[in-house]
Amino acid sequence: MSSPGFPLQKVSLVMLLVIAAGCASLPAEKPTLYQQFGGAAGVNDLANAFIMRLAEDPLVVDSFADTDMDQFHGHISDQFCNLMGGGCEYTGRDMVEAHQGMNIDPRQFNALVEDLMQAMDDVDIPQGAQNRLLQMLAPMYGDMVQ
Ligand code: HEM
Repeated sequence: MSSPGFPLQKVSLVMLLVIAAGCASLPAEKPTLYQQFGGAAGVNDLANAFIMRLAEDPLVVDSFADTDMDQFHGHISDQFCNLMGGGCEYTGRDMVEAHQGMNIDPRQFNALVEDLMQAMDDVDIPQGAQNRLLQMLAPMYGDMVQ
């Protein structure tokens, strides 16, 4: 039995449509941070873009004059991958040891972080994912700037 103004079939159809719309808008499984960075290939591209930015930055480039950049590429990739939960093992030195004696000042630290932000833009990392990596790096400030 249904009321003449609003037949039961119509009510059921509307309900079905509402349920279907609700299902369609259920969030899909959220990609991990590592996936948002494009996995191993994405992190590799990011490390390349980062090194290009560092090489063009007058505030930091001299610090890398004697650095084996292939090794740096490997270690920074592993560190990022490890932080993002990508399962890589980081085999470089700890951050205090790696940076001691360089007299890194706050301007240099900020410059390097900006280089990283530009590198992340270069390889189209979504803003939210960028922010999450930066949040993980921020506490390292005291390890580099003394
Ligand atoms: C959040 C900021 C930073 C992160 C995450 C970071 C990360 C790293 C990592 C993973 C390494 C490799 C260590 C190893 O191979 O044992 C490294 C090395 C190095 N970093 Fe940083 N770093 C940061 C800030 C800086 C700053 C501000 C400078 C200087 C302007 C700097 C200069 C260097 C240099 C020159 C090396 C190579 C050292 C060598 O050749 O022995 N880093 N860094």
